Amino acid sequence: MSKTAFTPRVFSGIQPSGNLTLGNYLGAVKRFVEMQESGIQTIYCMVDLHAVTVWQDPEKLRHNTRELAAAYIACGLDAEKSILFNQSQVSGHAELGWLFSCVARLGWMNRMTQFKDKAGKNAEKMSLGLYAYPALMAADILLYHTTHVPVGEDQKQHVELTRDIAAKFNHDYKTDFFPIPEPVIDGAGTRVMSLRDGSKKMSKSDPSDNSRINMTDDADTIAKKIRKAKTDPEPLPDNLDALKDRPEARNLINIYAGLSDQKPEAVIAEVAGQQFGQFKPLLADLAVAKLAPIGDEMARLMGDVAEIDRILGKGADRAAEIAEPILAKTFDIMGMVRSR
Ligand code: AMP
Ligand code: TRP
Repeated sequence: MSKTAFTPRVFSGIQPSGNLTLGNYLGAVKRFVEMQESGIQTIYCMVDLHAVTVWQDPEKLRHNTRELAAAYIACGLDAEKSILFNQSQVSGHAELGWLFSCVARLGWMNRMTQFKDKAGKNAEKMSLGLYAYPALMAADILLYHTTHVPVGEDQKQHVELTRDIAAKFNHDYKTDFFPIPEPVIDGAGTRVMSLRDGSKKMSKSDPSDNSRINMTDDADTIAKKIRKAKTDPEPLPDNLDALKDRPEARNLINIYAGLSDQKPEAVIAEVAGQQFGQFKPLLADLAVAKLAPIGDEMARLMGDVAEIDRILGKGADRAAEIAEPILAKTFDIMGMVRSR
């Protein structure tokens, strides 16, 4: 078996389920933009087929998909440089997702911690799609022969499952057709925590709006949420080790580092000795300076929904052009007759 060299290609996606957060921005979108500028082909998706693994109000899903597209663009993604589209407009995702659900093993799916977290004690009442979703995510990635997948820390296990699916497919069909993609998880923002509880991930779905900063929050709301963020009475130390048991403090340092493009080590050296009464206003100013213009631009873009839909349609055409021969070859490898 010869080893195929794959051209580097980036793919990532975010669910259009509302409330894009600072965690999505620092963990994902900001890094999507950096990769767009690196010269590699980049494909970024609004994964609406994933969103419906839990019930979505149809009007809200349509709105949230367009709003996520607006967020991508407002954060610096450029539809000329990157392929931007919503997943359901390229049918190959669902088709390859089915094929991969026949490659993935139940034992592998049973180890997925995100399903356990989301389903909790109610697993019996969850949709089959929520359980099967990592096979669809593998299809999203491999449909484009993707080599690099920028994601936050919480998606690492799903990218590893994607690697297992690619390797098993290649092994079972004695081929080297699919690449083994690499997760790209780096920077200070790979795991942004809740502003109310430093042991919980900042999440779109947290019932408390004060636990997160939404990309649509205005300047006053951003500043207020940071002022109210849970902290402790100690001043900031001069090294990160001393923050080991202070998750809320560590989280604010990480957020500052992510927003200012610095390493957390450099931030802690700069703010050593400060009380939160001093540090929080600095962080609030920085967050407002970085995020408020993005929110404003999103609102402006949402004023022309037809233009957003045009961008998504064109992106889907370009994505389908890459996906179709890869899907056709997959069917062929598996022995499906193709005669039309
Ligand atoms: P989701 O909102 O679950 O569709 O996540 C979209 C992307 O944002 C994925 O790459 C996640 O890993 C990333 N992400 C979501 N929440 C966070 C967080 N709190 N910190 C860092 N990255 C996150
Ligand atoms: N599962 C990811 C999340 O919930 C979103 C996602 C779907 C994704 N398909 C993907 C991320 C492919 C990267 C690549 O955050």
